[in-house]
Amino acid sequence: MISHKFPDLTIVVPTFNERDNVRPLVDLLETALAGIAWDVVFVDDDSPDGTAKEVRALGREKSFVRVIHRIGRRGLSGACIEGILSSIAPIVAVMDGDLQHDETKLVEMLAALKADPELDLVIASRNVSGGSSGTGLSSMRKWGSDVATSMARKMLKITATDPMSGFFMVRRESFNSVVLNLQQQGFKILADMLSASAGRWKTHEVAFTFRERQHGESKMDSAVTFEFLSLLAVRMTGGVVSIRFILFMLVGLSGLAVNLIVLRFVLGFLPDQFALSQTVAVVTAMTTNFILNNALTYKDRSLHGAAFLRGLLSFYGVCSVGAVANIGVATAIFAVVPNWALAGFVGAFIGALWNFVASSLVTWKS
Ligand code: GDD
Ligand code: MN
Repeated sequence: MISHKFPDLTIVVPTFNERDNVRPLVDLLETALAGIAWDVVFVDDDSPDGTAKEVRALGREKSFVRVIHRIGRRGLSGACIEGILSSIAPIVAVMDGDLQHDETKLVEMLAALKADPELDLVIASRNVSGGSSGTGLSSMRKWGSDVATSMARKMLKITATDPMSGFFMVRRESFNSVVLNLQQQGFKILADMLSASAGRWKTHEVAFTFRERQHGESKMDSAVTFEFLSLLAVRMTGGVVSIRFILFMLVGLSGLAVNLIVLRFVLGFLPDQFALSQTVAVVTAMTTNFILNNALTYKDRSLHGAAFLRGLLSFYGVCSVGAVANIGVATAIFAVVPNWALAGFVGAFIGALWNFVASSLVTWKS
């Protein structure tokens, strides 16, 4: 029988290489949500394992299953945002596609939102009594998650016990009021939402136990940590800069260190060849900057193979212009205000700004 009932609840499931989890998850949802009008949207970033194809196949069997198949893009937060925006339901949940989130909690979460019209958000928390990270996280990750949680709580003034959770349910109207403020890049959309809502939201928490992953593997990597730290910086600066900008500047600072270390090293061999030594140092620093930006800042569009080499060459070109701008600006300032530190800093900043804008348009154009 075909049902044309509109959904009261949309489940948004971001996926990357979760093909074998798709059917088991929908089966579990059907059992858990019996009697509720719901639908599910998988937001898949063109997973090489064919997750999107699997969801389309399932969608032909079950009309309440659909997929947003994104091409040339990567990122958990951005995927969640698009999934939520695609829903027509008044209430939307986000949960992982790997069966680590306890779908039986959805009923309780929905009931809380229906019972209290003032309530904006329900978080499934591992850190309230009755909840836990179970065996779903290694002790190292558990520690990292705890540190991140206390940082987010202190620096972003969040009161929720588990702002790192990827499992929550939000009223669509409330989500709409913060969406323009959210960062697309990164892994921690809940922390970002809580910060964007600036304490105005009424939230409620339900306990859940994080399950162990059955199929596939976690996409959490060291880049996620840097993205999270950048998210904190973005929020502390009132959201005027992006995560990408902060990452680019951090990589730039690392390049400064590389430059000085290599300069010192080469001078050890060629003590009377300063210009040559500095040239080697600068090219090395541009190269490490390119590699780090490609892996971190532009993880979502990182270049491989021939494109990697083309990108490297274009990055050298961009940075060379940046260096000329740096020297020009610094010299001009120094002529007016003879303060070497000020002139040097402004020059370097303008050069870095140019590098950021130009490389995003040329080297990592989307
Ligand atoms: N579309 C899309 N794009 N989905 C992604 C991407 C991406 O770039 N990266 C990860 N996902 C999907 C995964 O396929 C999975 O369904 C879900 O997002 C969570 O990713 P995992 O790789 O399983 O993350 P985790 O288990 O290490 O981390 C989970 O627990 C953390 C709490 O410690 C997530 O729920 C985190 O959000 C949460 O903070
Ligand atoms: Mn997981």
